[in-house]
Amino acid sequence: MTVGSLLAADLVIAVLAAAGWLGGGAASAARRRPLALGLAAAGLLATLARAVTITALARAGWWFAAEKVLIAAPLSLAGVVVAGPRLLRLPGDIRAVAVPLLFAGYADSAALLVTVLHGYPASAGVGLLAVAGVVAATAVSWRFLGAPPSRTVSRVAVVVAVAALLTGTGLAAAPGAAPAVPHDHGPGDARAVGEPTRRFTLTAGTATVRVSGRDVAAWAFDGQVPGPELTAVVGDVLEVTLRNRDIARGVTLHWHGYDVPNSQDGVPGVTQAAVLPGQEFVYRFRADQAGTYWYHTHAVSDVGVRMGLYGVLVVRPAPVTGVDVTVPVHTLSGRPLPAPRTESVRAGTPVRLRLINTDSTTHRYALAGTPFRVAAIDGFDLRGPTSLVDTAVLIPAGGRYDLVFTAPATPVALFVDGRAVYSTGAVPTATGAWPVLDPLGYGASAPAPWSRFDRSFTLVLDRGLDLRGLLPRYAHTVNGAADPDIPPQVVRLGDTVRFTIVNRSQTVHPWHLHGHHVLVLSRNGRPATGSPLWLDSFDVRPGEVWTVAFRADNPGMWANHCHNLAHADAGMTLHLMYA
Ligand code: C2O
Ligand code: CU
Repeated sequence: MTVGSLLAADLVIAVLAAAGWLGGGAASAARRRPLALGLAAAGLLATLARAVTITALARAGWWFAAEKVLIAAPLSLAGVVVAGPRLLRLPGDIRAVAVPLLFAGYADSAALLVTVLHGYPASAGVGLLAVAGVVAATAVSWRFLGAPPSRTVSRVAVVVAVAALLTGTGLAAAPGAAPAVPHDHGPGDARAVGEPTRRFTLTAGTATVRVSGRDVAAWAFDGQVPGPELTAVVGDVLEVTLRNRDIARGVTLHWHGYDVPNSQDGVPGVTQAAVLPGQEFVYRFRADQAGTYWYHTHAVSDVGVRMGLYGVLVVRPAPVTGVDVTVPVHTLSGRPLPAPRTESVRAGTPVRLRLINTDSTTHRYALAGTPFRVAAIDGFDLRGPTSLVDTAVLIPAGGRYDLVFTAPATPVALFVDGRAVYSTGAVPTATGAWPVLDPLGYGASAPAPWSRFDRSFTLVLDRGLDLRGLLPRYAHTVNGAADPDIPPQVVRLGDTVRFTIVNRSQTVHPWHLHGHHVLVLSRNGRPATGSPLWLDSFDVRPGEVWTVAFRADNPGMWANHCHNLAHADAGMTLHLMYA
């Protein structure tokens, strides 16, 4: 069983346990004896089953089990200790067990709320709040179901509840390390890169574009989605002038995966101000890295990218021979892009398909009709890629794969989620059942460049209630906090830095660090064995633990976030900062 499915199973069992106890309590209050006993037995069984899931999770890593061991298990145990013996004694009047059963139900519900609303890391404050809630709910039940306990017991209960509530609120509300993200962005290094050799201008504006035969409202660069393809040759100096015609919420250009100087990174509020209607901003950087990249707005990025403010950036090593095609996949107003394209390619021609996922979720790509190799991922060439046949690849949000092959005499087709997007003729192959390539074991390995790390950070990805500000929100969190409250990670120039990224939530988080490519060290404790993987976007699935490392060689203040941009918007963004 994967840790992801254990997490899901534990959640379901916890709901069953709470529902069983609460239902049993309600049924016994209503004197429905068989029903009460049945539900209570279900509650008891589910509570015992949780001992198994919690133990298994604890063995997979403390971050998956912390609040379950520290808060849920003691509360459930208390519930069983109180309700169990009364049930066994089987009183003549089933109503006599109503309150003990409800107590067990409240205890399990409180534990469940801690997991769903607070998560990792567990804290004393939250534990005390849970206790206060359980005591208070039990006291209320006692009052309404009669048979209240002695005065002394009720007084003790009130004192415990109030004390727990006060201490818990105090502890839970204690301010954490509130980071200040400095906004010092000097004139920047843009002038230092030399005379531009390629100039582009991109004008952002609202537009109506045609997608699969229908007009849809979009935000577009130069009136088209995707925006114009920017191409360069290694050594070029690019100058890109961004103008905003009428995007009221502002635009910027972020060079996704391209490790530009910080001042050119295009993150509003961090490296520049958003470009408002009527304004412009000039980006300049040297194209010193060949590969497949893309650009997109980083102002209200969730909406902006979804509406169409993105395009391709390809830097080629030298004028190329053969067929070189970019396939930027996107979903615009629920319709898939790009439109299918068919061209005939002479047998023997080298072909490179540059696959780009500009959506916020993973896509599945399958190349049928030819053996192929994955030549590069996220712009970096792989070492010794072997030939693959009838194998699919999963590309995370923001990620890129370059597939290469020699055109055969028979047709070839590329499918994205089962839809043909590029072909050299009709290929009837069904690709849905193909195995998926695991890039961590693909290609030829090389010794890791570092064996020791100057700094290590852990990012635990989760969901939780974020109580900052007036409107509470159900945020996507990192280490229990949501943007802008996540402390920045501070490194020094030249450090080797290791990140451990843990996903204890129920959804995939495509992780993306700006300004650096990270080398994958391991996933779920197993070292990567294939070609060194230098990634800028990688899917951390539920229950997974990734360790990655990089050299801190690009000073500045860098966004480090989930590239499901709705998640990034809902809290899952922090910053890497050079001291
Ligand atoms: Cu492609 Cu910060 O994003
Ligand atoms: Cu996410």
